[in-house]
Amino acid sequence: GIDPNFEDARERVGEENGLDVWGPVDEPEKLGIHGSHVAVDYDVCIADGACLENCPVDVFDWVDTPGHPASETKVEPTREDQCIDCMLCVDICPVDAIDVDAS
Ligand code: SF4
Ligand code: F3S
Repeated sequence: GIDPNFEDARERVGEENGLDVWGPVDEPEKLGIHGSHVAVDYDVCIADGACLENCPVDVFDWVDTPGHPASETKVEPTREDQCIDCMLCVDICPVDAIDVDAS
């Protein structure tokens, strides 16, 4: 699953779709963590989709990630600023790819 201490353990290597990206990144096989308040580990996500389908405030969008070994689409927490910290996505993801910093 995602490392909840990623903001200390990893380096911020850039930005995509207005979100922080935390490395290491080595495209297309290694894509890092996207987002900060709502963070998705792209290298863990298998595109289950339960987070996107069930988020009450529609934080997530699908993005294409061709060539990634775990799945060729991922969820981008594009509207992480809208998150109400319900923790549904954290609880529902089958591979624990999401961390929400509710503090
Ligand atoms: Fe959406 Fe709740 Fe996850 Fe925030 S914690 S992104 S509101 S499902
Ligand atoms: Fe990915 Fe988990 Fe959502 S596998 S699509 S972050 S439910």
